[in-house]
Amino acid sequence: MLGLQKAAVLGAGQMGSGIAQVLAASGLTVALYDTEPGALKRGLAVIGDSLARFVAKGKMTEREREETVARIVPVTELDRIGDARLVVEAVPERLALKRQLFAELDRQCGPDTIMATNTSSLSITAIAASTRRPDKVIGMHFMNPVPVMALVELVRGLATSDETFAAVKELARKLGKTPVEARDYPGFVSNRLLMPMINEAVYALYEGVASPEDIDAVMRLGMNHPMGPLALADLIGLDSCLAIMETLHDGFGDSKYRPCPLLRNYVQAGFLGRKSGRGFYVYA
Ligand code: 3HC
Repeated sequence: MLGLQKAAVLGAGQMGSGIAQVLAASGLTVALYDTEPGALKRGLAVIGDSLARFVAKGKMTEREREETVARIVPVTELDRIGDARLVVEAVPERLALKRQLFAELDRQCGPDTIMATNTSSLSITAIAASTRRPDKVIGMHFMNPVPVMALVELVRGLATSDETFAAVKELARKLGKTPVEARDYPGFVSNRLLMPMINEAVYALYEGVASPEDIDAVMRLGMNHPMGPLALADLIGLDSCLAIMETLHDGFGDSKYRPCPLLRNYVQAGFLGRKSGRGFYVYA
């Protein structure tokens, strides 16, 4: 096993804050890194709300909540995470940004540190190639909302070692998650299946087949999905959905993955879903 006690999470957004929360709840000390103090503040507030829900439901004691919060250390400098044995990166989905960050991490971290990325569809192999330790780089793809979703998709890059895979698989179990293994192809399994469904729901709206409410009701009531695809797109963020469709489209070169023009229009309008207060639905 990793002998893991210290971890770091890069990026305090929706996914990064959730990942920091589950790592801290399992007993690890977590440096939560973001360049923006405002983002760290918002991330810590999201963690506070989520933990309060677990306490209110009797799934966590007040003391466990306090201990979990105390294990999360917000940092704005990358050199403050140097002794972490595991780093999970959850910064925006831009390959150049991730490659630059991994190259920097490679210089900062000890030789045994495992570097995981929460990328939702980018190439693990390409991210790993920016380091001198591609055997220690792996995809660790959590689902939103991280504290409640059971799955972690573990993605092997071309050079990921069996030791790295085994260590991260064991950690995923320790977090109370179920790990599933996928190979490094665009969208892995989760987003290769989910995003075309969401994109098709946007096409159905674009072509006037039904209203957003009715499209979502079909999937909720007809297929027992917990949320309809348009409401789920709003939860994930329409910019993320578009970026993932573009990765599938570029990666496979197949027109079946072309992003719906309406999805692109919404993103251009700044209607990004819940986080911007408006997507396919309007949020108070
Ligand atoms: N923290 C803590 N608890 C939370 C929470 C959070 N952030 N969000 C929800 N919960 C808890 C609630 O308190 C509640 O607990 P209970 O069962 O003990 O009462 C439970 O989760 C259910 O929540 P709600 O009653 O508020 O609402 P729902 O029953 O609708 O559940 C949901 C909310 C869990 C989000 C559910 O609608 C759902 O599973 N939706 C689908 C989510 C999904 O598909 N996620 C994957 C997205 S794809 C992805 O992330 C990949 C990326 O690469 C794009």
